[in-house]
Amino acid sequence: MDPIKNPFSPGAGSPPPELVGRDPVLEQARILLGRVRQRRPEKSMLLTGLRGVGKTVLLNEIKRMADDEGYRTIFIEAHEGKALGPLIAPYLRSLLYDLDRIAGTGDKVKRGLAVLRSFIGALKLTMGDISIGLDIEPEKGAADSGDLEVDLPNLFIAIGEAADNRKVPVAIFIDEIQYFNKKELGALIMGMHKIQQHQLPLVLLGAGLPILPGLAGQSKSYAERLFSFPNIGALTKEDTAKALQDPAQAAGIAFEPAALTEVYRLTKGYPYFLQEWGYVAWNVATSSPISLQVI
Ligand SMILES: Nc1ncnc2c1ncn2[C@@H]1O[C@H](COP(=O)(O)OP(=O)(O)OP(=O)(O)O)[C@@H](O)[C@H]1O
Ligand SMILES: [Mg+2]
Repeated sequence: MDPIKNPFSPGAGSPPPELVGRDPVLEQARILLGRVRQRRPEKSMLLTGLRGVGKTVLLNEIKRMADDEGYRTIFIEAHEGKALGPLIAPYLRSLLYDLDRIAGTGDKVKRGLAVLRSFIGALKLTMGDISIGLDIEPEKGAADSGDLEVDLPNLFIAIGEAADNRKVPVAIFIDEIQYFNKKELGALIMGMHKIQQHQLPLVLLGAGLPILPGLAGQSKSYAERLFSFPNIGALTKEDTAKALQDPAQAAGIAFEPAALTEVYRLTKGYPYFLQEWGYVAWNVATSSPISLQVI
């Protein structure tokens, strides 16, 4: 089969030709986004699952939903050895500038920028040089204690109030959250705790490995009351067949049922593996339907 037309997409975060089996979690995200926009309380969401199950792909899909619903969004990927403060600050800066461009009265956005400047000032003291230009005076004492568990929640409140002021909800997406240390995770959790108490239109959506709920619970015991941890797992046999068959069919190619069963047996429905099998089977096959022999 023509490799250029190969619809399958094995990779990291590469959108599959068809996102199957994820309707319940997408529905949960839709409700969460709808409720936060109306300033109703709802648990933020941290997707958890093993490597290659499709967390990044899902998080991107939920970001698209949020963008479509008028949210201002930022998408951050944590990595080992990169501290939360310097990682998130430039994104929050562009978010606040974005809010600043939206017409509205009140000075909450300017205050948000001043609090961010104060936050960055404290980071410079504790972490050394970080260069993020902000042409505004810092608000002294707002987020510059040097204790992330105090400063980040204060910054989140200032941003939530800026969003509220512009009548635009904000969603912060963070992939690979398990890389943050206990203090950083604690700061994020406390930030969301404050946001809930003030009922501000800011929501956190994250993804991480299955150790994440345990890490969050160790950091703050009330984490499970603030977050839901949908488990993203392997696909069912039916969904695996659909994930292979539908994209192939759209290109006029079929899979023999026995070939689909064999791919399910080999991959156990793990999304990355089934994309890989689909991809290779397509390239190896010389005619449709793709047969068991090819697999
Ligand atoms: N629902 C799905 N149906 C079919 N394929 C999927 C689905 N979700 C993800 N995939 C495919 O699985 C692969 C892995 O997806 P993704 O990178 O999002 O996983 P991940 O959970 O973020 O992995 P990691 O933990 O390594 O970051 C990609 O090739 C993607 O196209
Ligand atoms: Mg990922």
